Amino acid sequence: MNLESLAQEISESILDTPEKRAAFQRRFLRKGGVLDGLFAELPYLPPEVRKERGKVLNALRQAAQRRLEEAERTAPSPVEPSPRRYADPTFPHVIYASGGRHPLSIVERRIIRLFQRMGYSLAEGPEIEDEWHNFSALNFEPDHPARDMQDTFFIEPEKGILLRTHTSTVQIRVMEKQKPPLRILAPGRVYRHETISARSHVYFHQVEGLCVEEDLSAADLKATLTYFLKGLFGESIRLRWRASYFPFTEMSAEVDVSCLICGGEGCSVCKQSGWVEVLGCGMVDPNVLSACGIDPQKYRGFAFGLGVERLTQLLYNIPDIRLFSQNDIRFLKSFQTYAPLL
Ligand code: DAH
Repeated sequence: MNLESLAQEISESILDTPEKRAAFQRRFLRKGGVLDGLFAELPYLPPEVRKERGKVLNALRQAAQRRLEEAERTAPSPVEPSPRRYADPTFPHVIYASGGRHPLSIVERRIIRLFQRMGYSLAEGPEIEDEWHNFSALNFEPDHPARDMQDTFFIEPEKGILLRTHTSTVQIRVMEKQKPPLRILAPGRVYRHETISARSHVYFHQVEGLCVEEDLSAADLKATLTYFLKGLFGESIRLRWRASYFPFTEMSAEVDVSCLICGGEGCSVCKQSGWVEVLGCGMVDPNVLSACGIDPQKYRGFAFGLGVERLTQLLYNIPDIRLFSQNDIRFLKSFQTYAPLL
C-alpha cells in the first residue's frame, strides 16, 4: 500500500455530506479500515522499518482525524424536519396600520351622507371665481365691505377675478344650468383675507345646500336642518334659531347648537354662552332666483351654509383651527383607523 497516495487521499477527499464523512471514517479511522490493516502488519515488519513506519501511520491517522473534524465543523447544519405547526388561536393577531382620513374629510363625508338621505346630490364649482358669482348674483350691494380687497383675495382685481369667499357661488352656478326642482349640496374650500389665529384661517371648508321647489317654506328649511343637526350631533342636542342677515336670503337665520363641550353650562369654546353657532341659512331672496333665470313667482328656495372646521372642532373637541393644516403626524394619527389585514 502506497502511503503517499493514502496521504493525498486523506487531504483531498471531499467530505461535504454525512454519507461521505461516514465512509471516510470507516476507511481511515475504524477497525477493519485501511489504516487499521496497516497497523496490524507492523509487528511482522523488520524492527528497523517498523518504528519509522509506525510514525508515518500514526501521522496519517491523526491527519485523517483532523480532516474529519474539520469537515464536521464546516458542514452545513442538517435541515431538521420541521415539527408540525398548529395555529395558536390565543396569539394576538398582527395589526396593520392603514392610512387614515383627515378629520375634515371624515366630517364632510358624514354631512354628505345625511343630506343624501334627503335626496340631495353633489355639485361643484371653481375656487377661482368672478365677482358675479361670488357677489353680484348673490345680491351683494356694489359697496358691500366683503367686496373689498381687505376681506377678499383678488387674483386679477381689474377683471374681478378672485378666490371664492364662500360656497354660495355654487348655488348660482347650479341655478344657471339646471332648472328646479333642485336639491344640491356643494362642499368645497373657500378663502378669506384674515389673520391666521386659533379661530380663523385664510382658507377653510364649507358645505352649501340649496333646495328650490314649487311649494317650499321656512318650515321645510327648519325640518331639514333639524334632521341634519340631530343626525350629526345626536338626538339630545338643543337648537336655537336666531334671525340674521345675508344679502342672498330673505328671511335669514343662524342656528346655534347647545355647547357639546360644557353641555350648555358655559366654557371657553362657547364663550360662556352655552351656545355655538354652526350655520347660516334662509329663504333664497327672489332677486337671486331672478338673476339665475328662475321665476320667483313660481319657485321658492331655501339655502344654508356651514363651516366644516367649526363642526369638526365641536365634534372632536379640537381647540385650534391651525391643527387642520399643519400636517402634524401626531394629530393626524389620532384619527387613523386600524384594521386587521387578513
Ligand atoms: N355664505 C355664508 C357665509 O359664508 C353662509 C350662508 C349663509 C350660506 C346663509 C347660505 C345661507 O346658503 O343661506 O358666511
